[in-house]
Amino acid sequence: MTSEILRAALFHVPRNPFRTPGSLAFHEDAGLLIANGRIAACGDYASVRQSHPDVAVRDLRGGVLLPGFIDTHIHFPQVRILGCLGHGLLEWLQRYTLPEEAKFADVDYARTIANEFVCGLAAHGTTTALVFGSHFAASTAALFEAAQAAGLRIVAGMVLSDRMLLPELHQSPEKAYRDSTRLIRDFHGTGRLLYAVTPRFALSCSDAILEVCGALLRENPGVRFQTHLNESRAEVKEVARLFPRDADYLAVYERHGLAGRHSVFAHNVQTTDAELERMAANRCSTSHCPGSNAALGSGILPMRRHLARGVHFALGTDVGGGIGFGMLKEGLQAYLLQRLTPDGFPLAAEHLLYLATLAGAEALGLERETGDFSEGKSADVVYVRAPRNSSLAAVMRNAPSAEHLLSAIFTVADASCIEQVWVEGRPVKI
Ligand code: GUN
Ligand code: ZN
Repeated sequence: MTSEILRAALFHVPRNPFRTPGSLAFHEDAGLLIANGRIAACGDYASVRQSHPDVAVRDLRGGVLLPGFIDTHIHFPQVRILGCLGHGLLEWLQRYTLPEEAKFADVDYARTIANEFVCGLAAHGTTTALVFGSHFAASTAALFEAAQAAGLRIVAGMVLSDRMLLPELHQSPEKAYRDSTRLIRDFHGTGRLLYAVTPRFALSCSDAILEVCGALLRENPGVRFQTHLNESRAEVKEVARLFPRDADYLAVYERHGLAGRHSVFAHNVQTTDAELERMAANRCSTSHCPGSNAALGSGILPMRRHLARGVHFALGTDVGGGIGFGMLKEGLQAYLLQRLTPDGFPLAAEHLLYLATLAGAEALGLERETGDFSEGKSADVVYVRAPRNSSLAAVMRNAPSAEHLLSAIFTVADASCIEQVWVEGRPVKI
């Protein structure tokens, strides 16, 4: 049995702070005991040490331990189009995104980007991610292989569409079924990999291919589901035109049995109360991607309406419509956008850390496995340490309270402050 105690300051949020305010757990001098890749104890260093006097200690004082970040919405084939600013969703897709994604017909190109992608996740402290693969089976397999080699936990799927994109990105419903079934067989439940059925969005999917998605979910218990929903006004209008018999956007997915406990809908900015009520009843989640929503001018998440109806939400970066891989930056964006909207929710540091960690695990049905430092969970850990002479170093020296320290980390820390990352107790190369 391999055991180690990590000694440093430590934060985690083991309960939902929207329901239970004051859920932030902080230890100025913590001991985090890891045994065989699991959390065996988490508390003040002195007491953890006293109970485990023979276990080796890694002294990391001067920095802060956090649970590994969980990104609930990110696109693997969009690494190289980050930063294409100045357009709304549909124009951005046509101009930059779809041509880039067509390149993934070439599996060698896909392998190169898969490495850039997993490096991007790890370097920013993301240990678990729900990922849109590519429209091609072989390059989606390359993503799974790269994540497995890096040791990251990903839930991903081949992107399905049969209309309105570039012709080379379309599959027939039969091919969508065949390729997805093979990928599920090859990767779902292998190590830390899980599969998610992934239609791109209702705009690019006929009823026939959405029907295939429903069949894949029914035939493969445990497989997750992800897509886009209610992102921009123009998109919602177009979906209403294409599906005139459905009462709203969510109804298109519901009709095919796609809105369940393991369904994560990216954005949901332009939502209605009727949709929110049904999402809550079906226990689906929203992936909130505030950086992307601002960059593409999509709108601001109605967070209070999500909370009032009881719809779960967690954070996603939405690389490459978003602003990068950083989940800390994403948390800050969520805070800033809520500040800017008249009915915004006043997010505090505990909400930001919850949204970047445990909330994501809950959205993915992985809350027993990861998301905080409760005993028995996987030791998915990020070590944040301010580089010498950085603004974070200055703030950390002066933080008047634990809350201030954590909100300062969300405000000014970036990838240069992520010094070490572990998944299931194993260091990840960053
Ligand atoms: N809707 C359909 N495809 C996409 C995409 O790639 N990014 C975003 N943000 N929205 C989408
Ligand atoms: Zn997206």
